[in-house]
Amino acid sequence: MPARLVVLVSGSGTNLQALLDACTDPAYGAEVVAVGADRDGIEGLARAARSGVPTFVERVGDHDDRAAWDAALSEAVAAHRPDLVVLAGFMKLVGPAFLGRFGGRTVNTHPALSPSFPGMSGPADALTYGVKVTGCTLFVVDEGVDTGQIVAQVAVPVEDDDDVDSLHERIKTAERAMLVEAVGVMARDGFSVEGRRVRLGRAAR
Ligand code: GAR
Repeated sequence: MPARLVVLVSGSGTNLQALLDACTDPAYGAEVVAVGADRDGIEGLARAARSGVPTFVERVGDHDDRAAWDAALSEAVAAHRPDLVVLAGFMKLVGPAFLGRFGGRTVNTHPALSPSFPGMSGPADALTYGVKVTGCTLFVVDEGVDTGQIVAQVAVPVEDDDDVDSLHERIKTAERAMLVEAVGVMARDGFSVEGRRVRLGRAAR
């Protein structure tokens, strides 16, 4: 049976698209069973719909408080019985209810080399700092901001004439490949987390 993926998005969904494309090959070993979002009208949801994947939206503003939103998001995700939850450009921090249910099997992709430049503006912060190399990180989500155990990282050069958009696009090209590769291995061969270290593959089981 392919691993069941629920993917959460907030924007254009190019990382989601890379997963949807990979999942068309049965040998990939995973299936996107639902796509969720924290807002309506985004291209990520349209990509899911075009692939015939069910979608759901849980907006923070539709709930009494952040905890109620977190509980509702958890319920919506649980309804699709995921083996793995993938945050792919999901611009919200999940909370205790979500982590209680899906902690240890939720990964997030971030456009910087952790632990550098956590937060919402990884590419801009890398440019401002002046680093010559940045990249992308896939990590197991915990209660912090981009602090979880690292599953995979890919380095990306910063060019002298980069602006935020050109750098972010170069990072995203690497990020999509990293995400597809790592999620595929996790789905097919499993993974384990020991302290700060993540082991991928059959040896991890
Ligand atoms: C990706 O670069 C992802 O790492 C980033 O948003 C982009 C989404 O692109 N996420 C964050 O910055 C979260 N801290 P996409 O919607 O085209 O996949």
